[in-house]
Amino acid sequence: MCGIVAYIGKNKALPILLDGLKRLEYRGYDSAGIAVLNSGVHSIKSVGKIKALEEKLDSKKFSGKIGIAHTRWATHGEPTEINAHPHSGDQGKFWVVHNGIIENYRTLKDKLIQKGHNFKSQTDTEVIAHLLEDFYKDNITDALISTLKLLKGTYGLAVICKDEPDKLLVARNGSPLVIGVGQDETIIASDVSALIRHTRQVIYLDDGEIAEIDQNNFRIINIQEKEIKKTVEEIEWSLEQAEKSGYPHFMLKEINEQPESIINSIRGRTIIKDGKVKLGGLETIMNITRFIEKISIVACGTAKHAGMVGQLMLEEYANLETSVEFASEFRYRKPIIDQKTAVIAVSQSGETADTLAAMREAKTKGALTLGIVNAVGSTIARETDAGVYNHIGPEIAVASTKAFTSQVAILALFTVLFGRQRQMSMVMGRRILGELNALPDKIKFVVKQNNKIKKIAKKYYKSNNILYMGRKYNYPTAIEGALKLKELSYIHAEGLPSGEMKHGSIAMIDKDFPSVFIAPEDSVYEKNLSNIEEIKARSGPVIAVTTEGNKELKKLVDEIFYIPKTLEMLTPILATIPLQLFAYHMALLNNKDVDKPRNLAKSVTVE
Ligand code: AGP
Ligand code: GLU
Repeated sequence: MCGIVAYIGKNKALPILLDGLKRLEYRGYDSAGIAVLNSGVHSIKSVGKIKALEEKLDSKKFSGKIGIAHTRWATHGEPTEINAHPHSGDQGKFWVVHNGIIENYRTLKDKLIQKGHNFKSQTDTEVIAHLLEDFYKDNITDALISTLKLLKGTYGLAVICKDEPDKLLVARNGSPLVIGVGQDETIIASDVSALIRHTRQVIYLDDGEIAEIDQNNFRIINIQEKEIKKTVEEIEWSLEQAEKSGYPHFMLKEINEQPESIINSIRGRTIIKDGKVKLGGLETIMNITRFIEKISIVACGTAKHAGMVGQLMLEEYANLETSVEFASEFRYRKPIIDQKTAVIAVSQSGETADTLAAMREAKTKGALTLGIVNAVGSTIARETDAGVYNHIGPEIAVASTKAFTSQVAILALFTVLFGRQRQMSMVMGRRILGELNALPDKIKFVVKQNNKIKKIAKKYYKSNNILYMGRKYNYPTAIEGALKLKELSYIHAEGLPSGEMKHGSIAMIDKDFPSVFIAPEDSVYEKNLSNIEEIKARSGPVIAVTTEGNKELKKLVDEIFYIPKTLEMLTPILATIPLQLFAYHMALLNNKDVDKPRNLAKSVTVE
């Protein structure tokens, strides 16, 4: 997804802007550009990687101490140099970088053309630069406010003006912006990782807010020019956490971080002796959750798969009617939501547009909205009534791994929390929490078998299709495993409840069509065994994930991977790890970009 970096302060802007863009590369983009102000504005743009932009730069010209930079993820207009940001108007007075979509740009553009403006690009963004020039008299902030009043849609904006070379403006509505407060310098970015090496003091802009920043100060106002007081927050994690720590890829680092990330997800939140959970972020609404009668989980992609595990947990152990919704579908349906419903938005980035929109729709209908979010200060985290952070540090790889296992673990905490407000006994609470605390060591056992998975991947990396199957708690694991393989290796994969296979999909099975079965020794193991037999009867190769010590599957399947025994509801946390490693190695064997797969963005902030 797109990114913004802007700088004003005592140092030269260029190196800070370039370094910031490089830290945003993981989010996915197709082109990039920079504009720096010093005796006029110097701008340069390029399609492709930041490296290509760097090669075009003449740093002598770009020696100013105020600038803006952008990585684009095209929504309006091809990824070309002309369409790359920054954009300016006819007079080259204002320069703008923008994240988001201006939904009424066509109408605005037509009016500006009638007024004699000439557009260079096909983007929606360019209308902003022309409007600023149209409105500008002698105050850049007035011009920006007049412009923002006309815009419909989402934006994170950074703006510089040739005629006011000591000012930088930023504004946000639906696309995240963070202000890094340094010593005699201010760095703004769409993501903390772009500014953390300069400062850990940050202010999160909210929707409808504008920051007017000069060399040594800033003020934050709303569109009515009312001054807004914001708190400066300290970022929890260090730059090191955002580096690879010696792993070849962020994804492998994050897979191996999962013992630690589960520890951090549950740290200080389990009181095993009482079989109870303590979630500080929910404390203010505990008297409300007692009376909740229904839960709806809204999420996208991997987060939705975690939600599917949570649904089974909440039904089985908290006696709560629970649904899981594709966030992108939720508000176009007529979901039955009321004051007795709690809607849980699960989102690693906390900025996924579909999940944010679903949560806002639920709020409109009076639901209690809760968040399970990793990115501190993100929009979903700030707009839900209450919620908890994963506390797993930044997840840089586009393919989500440690966030999935953390989301499942936190949904288990929600299950005990709500269950103990209902019929769950202390003994059951103790059992679940005890097992949750035992998981990190069990995860270590699983991740250590990376080489065995690599060997299995070497046999199957030329496959064109793979079917993933599981039942009950591991049907979501199967879908998640399929998504990992698809998004990393571009091999077609499908996740299916094992029992569904005979209703059509088995027609595809032959010796060249492998299946992955997640078949731990649980309440549905025997059923899975029959399904594996059915696949084998049609010469289909089978890779099985099962409980260590299992003897019978080894004789039946082609490849086997063992996970330690745990509670059935927690098996997805262990079973997903071999599938993460399998997808990782399949992608490498197919020479794919593991950390930044094509066409994907880490946080999809457009609908
Ligand atoms: C997961 O590997 C994908 N990158 C994607 O499906 C992701 O889970 C989805 O976009 C939701 O993102 P979020 O958790 O940040 O809301
Ligand atoms: N909608 C703008 C464009 O297509 C911005 C896209 C982005 O967020 O990068 O240029």
